[in-house]
Amino acid sequence: MTKPVVKLSHIYKQYGDNHALRDVSFDLQPGEFVALVGMSGGGKSTLLRLIAQLELPTAGTIEYADENLVTRVMFQDGRLLPWMTTLNNVSFASHDAKVQARAQKTLAAVGLAGFEQTYPTELSGGQKQRLALARALMADPELLLLDEPLGALDALTRRNMQSFITKICDDSHLTTLLITHDVDEAARMANRVIVVKNGRAVYETAGAKGQTPETVARVADQVLKVILAPDEEAKEGERLG
Ligand SMILES: Nc1ncnc2c1ncn2[C@@H]1O[C@H](COP(=O)(O)OP(=O)(O)OP(=O)(O)O)[C@@H](O)[C@H]1O
Ligand SMILES: [Mg+2]
Repeated sequence: MTKPVVKLSHIYKQYGDNHALRDVSFDLQPGEFVALVGMSGGGKSTLLRLIAQLELPTAGTIEYADENLVTRVMFQDGRLLPWMTTLNNVSFASHDAKVQARAQKTLAAVGLAGFEQTYPTELSGGQKQRLALARALMADPELLLLDEPLGALDALTRRNMQSFITKICDDSHLTTLLITHDVDEAARMANRVIVVKNGRAVYETAGAKGQTPETVARVADQVLKVILAPDEEAKEGERLG
């Protein structure tokens, strides 16, 4: 096994009396696509914020493959700047010709060529998500963190965006962590699926990325069972950290 891009060891996070994370350990291998799934309030977004170094763990360590690891987060709301054009959202209104050229290339990569002068409010839901993705990709990240990026989309657009994100991540050999409530999405997109429950990573299984719809459905079913199982039953799965 090669050196992981990120390695979490025995992570705890406490907010006052609330134990949001309790002894979580896992790593992300280079180029791997990992999905974190689980019930609301389980600790998924907290894990993502810790990995993105937006917060510090109460205990435990997070090691990075390199101290200058370029990490970008794409949030559900996209964090778009409505008063700026699509191009300026990606280039951060830079006047540097090189930055502008790169922004144009990045927009083309997410299928938004021709929309440079459009404002976010004039874009469809799927286009907004692609713009948010372009913003994250602009920095040429090595690690991409996606927190429920497709939650607001209709089923068909969501499926298109799933394929789209998978292709972009594969083409750029990006290491990706996706948080989703959708077990089908997790099974379809990920090499590995981790279930987070009550602050613990309770189960992990191989995803069904690139496999048949039957395999995707089987993995999704299994993961859903673990999520819905009372805590004792979850222990029967492969225990993590
Ligand atoms: N900044 C904060 N201050 C206090 N408590 C917090 C904070 N952020 C998260 N929590 C608590 O930590 C726990 C985990 O929250 P987290 O947002 O990580 O869950 P989640 O799995 O992402 O849920 P969801 O699927 O609803 O997004 C919850 O009990 C939440 O109330
Ligand atoms: Mg969350």
